Amino acid sequence: MLKRGNEKSKRIIIKQFISRLFFGIVVASDNVLIVGSGSREHALGWKIAQSKHVNKIYFAPGNGGTSENIDIKHNDINKLVSFAKRQSNLLTVVGPEEPLSLGIVDAFEKEGLRIFGPRKEPARLETSKAFAKEFMHDAGIRTPEFAIFSDAQKAKDYVVRQSRPQVIKADGLAAGKGVVVCDGADQAIAVIDSIMIKKEFGAAGTKVVIEERLSGEEVSFIALCDGKTIMPLAPSQDYKRIFDDDKGPNTGGMGAHSPTPVIDSDLHEKIVKDVMQPAMIAIRKRGTPFKGFLYAGIMVDENTKKPYVLEFNVRMGDPECQPIMMRMKPDLYEYVDAAVDGRLESMPQMEWKNQTAVCVIMASKGYPGSYEKGKVIEGLNSDFGPHVMVFHAGTARNSQGRIVTNGGRVLAVTALGEDARRAIDNAYSAVRKIRWGENDHYYRTDIARRAIGR
Ligand code: AMP
Ligand code: GLY
Repeated sequence: MLKRGNEKSKRIIIKQFISRLFFGIVVASDNVLIVGSGSREHALGWKIAQSKHVNKIYFAPGNGGTSENIDIKHNDINKLVSFAKRQSNLLTVVGPEEPLSLGIVDAFEKEGLRIFGPRKEPARLETSKAFAKEFMHDAGIRTPEFAIFSDAQKAKDYVVRQSRPQVIKADGLAAGKGVVVCDGADQAIAVIDSIMIKKEFGAAGTKVVIEERLSGEEVSFIALCDGKTIMPLAPSQDYKRIFDDDKGPNTGGMGAHSPTPVIDSDLHEKIVKDVMQPAMIAIRKRGTPFKGFLYAGIMVDENTKKPYVLEFNVRMGDPECQPIMMRMKPDLYEYVDAAVDGRLESMPQMEWKNQTAVCVIMASKGYPGSYEKGKVIEGLNSDFGPHVMVFHAGTARNSQGRIVTNGGRVLAVTALGEDARRAIDNAYSAVRKIRWGENDHYYRTDIARRAIGR
C-alpha cells in the first residue's frame, strides 16, 4: 500500500514540476485543503492564498470568514481522505491536534495524498505528557525535573517529600485544564485525587506527570520541519488566561504577539541548537521523522535565564499563528511544499517584517464558560486600514448571509505596527469598531503588554 502511495506522490510531484516550468511561466496549479475551523486556519489560508502557485483553497469545515468551505468535520478522517482523493494536485495542511492524534497523516500518506503534519506516533509528543517528558529526558532536552506515576498513593507520597512547589499534569489531552500549578503539598494532593481517583478528565488522568514548578516568562517557539531540517519561525508569546493581568481560568488563548523581547538572538540560537534540532534528531531516530509544525512551549527561568521546555505541540499555535502569518515575508506555500517533499534544506531562511504583530481575540461574553451563539456581528465592514486583518474563528453565516457568532472565541483581530505600541493601537482601534448583541463581546485589554515597558 505504502509503495503504491509513494509512486502516486512521485507522479504528482513530477506533474507539478512540469506545470510550473512550462515555457517559464508560473501556472497556479496547486490546490490546498486546510483542515480546521479556527482563526489559526483562517490565517494559514490567508497567507497560502497569496502564493502564485496556489489556485484554490478549501477549508474543512472552515468558518463564516473562510471560503470555500467543505462540510466535513476536522476529525472525520475517512471523509477527508475521500474528498482529497477526488481532487487533483491537492496539498492538505492540518490545523488542530485532534486529526493528527487520530492518524490523518498516516491515512493520507497511505493513499499517496500529499499532507503537511506529523504522523500519529510523533503526535504523541502533544497527546501524552508522560511520553513527551520521557522523550525530552532521553534526548537531553532541558525540561523541569519530573516524575511519572500511575499509582495515586505513590504520587502523593512523592509530593510530600518535595521541598519545592510542584505542578501536577494529567497525562492525556484535557482541553487545556489538566495542568495545575500548585503552591504546596496539600493542594498537590487534592489535585492528584481529582485527576487520578475522581477521574475528572477520564482516561487522560490514568497517569500524572509531577514536575518542579519554575518561574519565568513563557514563549512559543515554532518551526517548520520536513523530517530532517528545521526552519524556525519568528518567536511569539500568547496570553492564555481570560482576564487582564493573567487572572482567571485558562482559555484557548486570548491574544498573542510576535516578536518577543524575551528572545534575543543568543537565546534564539540556543533554542534552535538545544531544543529544536535535538528534538528533530531524536524523533527521526525513533523511526517516524517529524513533518509539520513543531511547537515548543518554553519557560525562560527567571534565575538562570535558561530555556526549559514545558510542553511540545505538534501543530501551529493558536493564536500565535495569526501574528506570525502577518509578519512572514516569503511564500509560505513554497516552504510547506518543500517540507512535504523533504526539501527544506534547499530553502532560504525565512524573512520577517521588521514590525510587531499583535492579535487580540474577541470572545463571546461568558467564555470559557457558557455563552450564547447566533448574534449578528456589527462593524466587520469598517475601514480598519491596511495593517489589520480580522481572522474569523467561531463565526458562521446565517440564513440572510450575515456573519453571526458561533463559538467562544469569535474573531482574531490582528494588526501590524512599526513597534509594539503602534501595533497595539492598531489592533485595539479595530477591535473597538466591532461588536455584537447588547455588548455581548469580551476581550482582554492588556494584550502585548509584555512586548513593551521593559
Ligand atoms: P503545559 O500544558 O504543560 O504547557 O502547561 C500549561 C501551563 O501551565 C503553562 O503554559 C505554564 O503556564 C504552566 N506550567 C506548566 N508547567 C510548569 C512548570 N513546571 N512551572 C511553572 N508553570 C508551569
Ligand atoms: N496558544 C497555545 C496553543 O496553541 O497551544
